[in-house]
Amino acid sequence: MSKPKILVTRNIFPEWIDYLSENSELDLWEDELPPPREILLDKVKGIDGILCLLTDKIDSELMDIAGTQLKVISQIAVGFDNIDIKEATKRKIPVGNTPDVLTSTTADATWSLLMSVARRISESERFVHSGNWKTWHPLHFLGQDIYNSTLGIIGMGRIGYEVAKRAIGFDCKIIYYDVNRRKDLEEKLPIEYVDLNTLLIESDIVSLHTVLNDDTYHLIGEKELNLMKENSILINVSRGPVVDSTALYEALINKNIWAAALDVTDPEPIPHDDPLLKLDNCLIVPHIASATFKTRYEMSKISAQNLINGVNKKPLLTCVNPQVNY
Ligand code: GLV
Repeated sequence: MSKPKILVTRNIFPEWIDYLSENSELDLWEDELPPPREILLDKVKGIDGILCLLTDKIDSELMDIAGTQLKVISQIAVGFDNIDIKEATKRKIPVGNTPDVLTSTTADATWSLLMSVARRISESERFVHSGNWKTWHPLHFLGQDIYNSTLGIIGMGRIGYEVAKRAIGFDCKIIYYDVNRRKDLEEKLPIEYVDLNTLLIESDIVSLHTVLNDDTYHLIGEKELNLMKENSILINVSRGPVVDSTALYEALINKNIWAAALDVTDPEPIPHDDPLLKLDNCLIVPHIASATFKTRYEMSKISAQNLINGVNKKPLLTCVNPQVNY
C-alpha cells in the first residue's frame, strides 16, 4: 500500500521528522523562512495532510488546490487564526493544534516580559554593554513595582489562568475580563471579574491572553489605552493585531502608559524601521513565548501525531473542530 503524502512546512524536532518519514511520503520544507505562497500552493497539490505553522496561510484557495483527498491540517501552535476553520470544517477536514503543553511555558514567558519591562532589564543591559555605566545613581533606571500591584488579565483561558496563579506569589490583586465569566476558576483562585473598562482603569499591569478573531482585532486601541493609568504596563503574548500598534506608539511616546512588552507584533516580523523599535519603553521579542526545548519538543510530537492520525483517518489528539474529528 502506498504511504500517505504529507507536506511539513518547517523543520521540527528530528525525532518527529523521523517518525513522519517512517509513516509517510514526506515533503519537508527545510528553509528557515516560510515557503513563499506560490511554492506552498504548488507543494500542496495531491497531499493527504499538512503540518503547518502560524506563518502559513491555510485558506480555501489552498484547500482547493490541495484537492479533496486532503484529510488533515496539523498546526504546530495553539493559536490557529492563520487557518480558515469554517472552510476546513465544511470540507470535513479536522484541524489539529498544540494546546496544554505550552500553557505553563507561555505563562512563564509572560512573567519574564513583565519583570523585564517593569525593571527595565533589557534597556539597562544595553546601557552597560554600550559602555555608559559610569556610577551608581539613586535616580537611574527607576522602574515599577510588581508586588502588591493590580494585575488585569484579558482572556481567562488556560494561559491567563496560569499567569494569574503566578501573581499570587507577588501579592497582586488579580482582576480579569473575558467574554465568558469563569466562575469555576473564581472558586480556585482569588480572581475578580470586571468589565473591560474597569480593568483598564484599575490595572497597573494589563496582560493580553485572548484569541485573535473579528471581536478581538484592535481590542486595545486609542480609547482603551487612554483609560489606562500613566504608570501602567501593557503585555501582549496573544496576537499582534489584538493591539492597534499606531495607537500603542502614540500612548507610549505621549506617556499615556508607562511601558509595553510585546511577544507578538502586527505585522510579524516587525519591520526594522517600525517606530516602536525606537522606544526605550517598549520591549519586543520575536514571538518566543512557547520557545523552550521541552515545550517545542512536545509541540513537535503532538503535531506529528495529529498529522499521522489524520492521514490514517484516526482521531486527532487535539482538534479545534471536533465535530469533524475522525
Ligand atoms: C503561538 O503563538 C501559539 O499559538 O502557539
